[in-house]
Amino acid sequence: MAEFVFLWRGNKFAAARACRAIVRRYTANGEQGPQSGGSGCDGLRLRYPSLIIATSGMQPTFGKGKPMGLRTKFNLAVLAAFLIGFAGTGVFLQRLFIENAREQVLENARIMITAANAVRNFTNVFIKPLAAPLNDSGVRFVPASVPSFAAQTTFKSVQAKFPDFTYREPALNPTNLSDRATDWEADFINVFRNRSDVKELTGERETPTGTVLTLVRPIAIENPDCLLCHSTPAIAPKALLAAYGSTNGFGWQLHEVVGAQVVSVPMALPLQHARQTFITFMAILLGVFILIVVILNILLHYTVIRPVVTLSHIANAVSLGEPGVEDYERKGTDEIAVLSASFARMRRSLDSAMSMLER
Ligand code: HEC
Repeated sequence: MAEFVFLWRGNKFAAARACRAIVRRYTANGEQGPQSGGSGCDGLRLRYPSLIIATSGMQPTFGKGKPMGLRTKFNLAVLAAFLIGFAGTGVFLQRLFIENAREQVLENARIMITAANAVRNFTNVFIKPLAAPLNDSGVRFVPASVPSFAAQTTFKSVQAKFPDFTYREPALNPTNLSDRATDWEADFINVFRNRSDVKELTGERETPTGTVLTLVRPIAIENPDCLLCHSTPAIAPKALLAAYGSTNGFGWQLHEVVGAQVVSVPMALPLQHARQTFITFMAILLGVFILIVVILNILLHYTVIRPVVTLSHIANAVSLGEPGVEDYERKGTDEIAVLSASFARMRRSLDSAMSMLER
């Protein structure tokens, strides 16, 4: 007759006690008196091959003895990976979206400056010659013949539709005093005056309506025609002197940087869009993660945890010699199915070995 000893893993004393109890029982029954197998059952097993020693299927422990199942380990690993990925993606995407918004605003500003230049050019080539007789005769000055006036005035119509956009052509020594450079505009102009290699500058300013992105390009006197009205009052059209006086906007030199084109475009809306896109994207990421975790957990439960728990219960029951333990063989070809088949086969071999022993 086979005896079972249920060993709690790692508890040598309990095992030894259980073994001694069995030995005592053997002796009490008057069977050929076995001696205690020392401290554990190993000695016993040698002496009494019919003694079957089962080791309990206790869960491995984690921390202060709290069991951590496959599901917890698995979910913790996935969660850790997600948190790292989520944080990394968040930082990266936020930067990317803000950078994109900035680039987009800058691109708009460049288009505006290009359009302003087109107006300047058009005025210079087509309007100025037409107005020259009027300007020179001193009858009447035609501001429409001035490139700067044309560009700034045209832009005012654009501004009617996009109130937060501004276009200015400030100068350090302007003909029209309303074009005098403000402090920060003068800073930009001075950078251009000191460094001829710099052709474009950008800056961000905080205004009451939010962050404004400013694109600045230098205005240099490259065309000698400009000097007709901007060098000395003596050669300037009389009508110009009458309209603007003879103190401002003169003394400009050829190739000198006299002012700048300053376009300001509000960032508030593009930034808000960037933020919305960012939040939407992160929410989608979170949703996909939750979906993946749910699907993986369902898969894990049905393909691994449930069959393994069943198998381990059966293995325990079989090892303890419990009668009437049901058969379990999982259908399929995956690893767990193969394991359950192997286990069932092992169980059958064990049964036949036992019945041979009992004979
Ligand atoms: C026909 C005379 C005339 C010519 C030619 C002319 N300008 Fe002017 N310019 C003016 C007047 C007048 C103003 C002021 C316009 C206003 O009221 O906004 C002005 C304004 C400007 C301004 C804005 C700052 C300021 O002084 O008010 C800049 C910059 C400027 N001109 C550059 C140029 C350049 C560069 C050229 C050559 C491509 C040029 N101008 C040709 C008459 C002229």
